[in-house]
Amino acid sequence: MGSSRKAPGVFEPDRGERRVFRLTFEGYDALALHTFAERETIEGIGAPLGVGKESDVYEVRSYKPLALKFHREGYTEFREVNREREYTADREHVSWLYTARKAAEREYETLEALYPTVSVPQPIDHNRHAIIMERIDGVELARSKLEAEQVVPVLDLILAEMAAAYDEGYVHADMSEYNIFVNSEGITIFDWPQAVPVDHENGDDLLERDVENTVGYFQRKYPHSIADVDTAALADAVATDSFESVREFAES
Ligand SMILES: Nc1ncnc2c1ncn2[C@@H]1O[C@H](COP(=O)(O)OP(=O)(O)O)[C@@H](O)[C@H]1O
Ligand SMILES: [Mg+2]
Repeated sequence: MGSSRKAPGVFEPDRGERRVFRLTFEGYDALALHTFAERETIEGIGAPLGVGKESDVYEVRSYKPLALKFHREGYTEFREVNREREYTADREHVSWLYTARKAAEREYETLEALYPTVSVPQPIDHNRHAIIMERIDGVELARSKLEAEQVVPVLDLILAEMAAAYDEGYVHADMSEYNIFVNSEGITIFDWPQAVPVDHENGDDLLERDVENTVGYFQRKYPHSIADVDTAALADAVATDSFESVREFAES
């Protein structure tokens, strides 16, 4: 684990009189890895698959290729605080481990609820701030270049998966071209820690924002293939499971 966020080491002695041992993210990573190895979920850890805004994702060896995601939510904030103040209260320190663990739990629960009805990575195991899931082959939508005739069908596939997720009770709430994989078999939506239940007070606003972000990306990248769209009506169709194609929502 070549994280450069902190000097390597499982435990880092605190400053001060008392010998307090502070658990670093590397230590927490090692504990989660140890648990996965004991449970025989993983046989070894491989190359990084991606560094996201709030995670580190590695390939892992097992009975089939899997992905290991270490959640880092709360840590970026912690680093900002820490730059200004050499000393950080233990309470804040505890809070980022807790925040990351909660995020991993939420993501795992959501994957379990959605798989296999919705095209998401198959959840395999979780421990502390880490989850193990199926490794998805493909490229992020942001890095893919679609042929003109593929543009509407791929957007329709994504919206159909969002409708299926809504039907299962979830809004993703962070939909973007960076959280979708595209391959010859279709699309996979990943990165679910912030998903909300459909009856959340902002559920429908978040769904509409997800629809706007997704359609907006296609419009910017493929302006000749996608017309202006009535996103409110489209989001409504996604929520009521009556969605068929974005073409029906083109504004003339
Ligand atoms: N199941 C997976 N299989 C292969 N690569 C993955 C998988 N999950 C995540 N990744 C890679 O790791 C990156 C970060 O993962 P993501 O879940 O989006 O976390 P973040 O919240 O940090 O954005 C992704 O952009 C992707 O490249
Ligand atoms: Mg992401």
